[in-house]
Amino acid sequence: MQILDGKIASLSVKEQLTQEVQQLVAAGHRAPHLAAVLVGNNGASETYVASKVKNCAEIGFQSTLIRLDAAVSEEELLNTIRGLNADNNIDGILVQLPLPKHISEPKVIETISAEKDVDGFHPVSVGRLVQGLETFIPATPYGIMLMLEHYKIPTKGKHAVVIGRSNIVGRPMSILLSSNHPYGNCTVTICHSHTPDLAAVCRQGDIIVAALGKPEFVTADMVKDGAIVIDVGITRVEDATAKKGFRIKGDVSFDQVAEKASYITPVPGGVGLMTIAGLMKNTLVAYKRTLK
Ligand code: GUN
Repeated sequence: MQILDGKIASLSVKEQLTQEVQQLVAAGHRAPHLAAVLVGNNGASETYVASKVKNCAEIGFQSTLIRLDAAVSEEELLNTIRGLNADNNIDGILVQLPLPKHISEPKVIETISAEKDVDGFHPVSVGRLVQGLETFIPATPYGIMLMLEHYKIPTKGKHAVVIGRSNIVGRPMSILLSSNHPYGNCTVTICHSHTPDLAAVCRQGDIIVAALGKPEFVTADMVKDGAIVIDVGITRVEDATAKKGFRIKGDVSFDQVAEKASYITPVPGGVGLMTIAGLMKNTLVAYKRTLK
């Protein structure tokens, strides 16, 4: 069994990005600029956004964090996005999800200019992904593809089982793995809460992507010997013995599944770090388009 280490793989992507930014800035261009919008103070969202901002600084991107109160009106948020769309100094826009219940996520996502949609959630980006056209790939599935590429894990002809059908991970992941490119060409099954005998379906997977948000859901009996196991879960589970009062758990029961898997991603230290690498790559692409 080999650990797929997100620290190592993301560092390699970040080093390439850092070099490219240094060359662009040395040639007299401004630095790429990501705007992140955080509504309210959900603890997990705060952590993710802080990490995105920190990573921007590390690779030489500029970033702007816009914090809005949880009670902000939908119209005010949409106007903030419209302002960022119109700002020629901003290359990428992300609005951290989830949003408070009174705000329509689809409306927010559609308001972000498709040219600045570095999260890849806009219907235009998703449509292009489905059609195999160049696009912004949602950061987590993109990060997983970068991880497979970093470790040169062949996927062609394999059966991939994706658990979860969210717009953020499961569905785009299933499209990427089935697409005709070097780390695709899988036969893909997508499972969800209405899948009968999900364990039996999982056992058929040469690759399992667990993205349902249920801590330690995937157990050893659901995994075929030698499977490649990608754990997307990051759930905070209360634990009085932990310093922060919680621990981060993945969707996979790591210790038992690791004994059967050929490759496995840890949580933390796996897919989460690759998500940021994917986002940063998208931001650089959005920026480079403005130079043309
Ligand atoms: N919430 C969970 N994952 C993501 C992500 O990749 N982007 C945004 N904007 N929100 C998220």
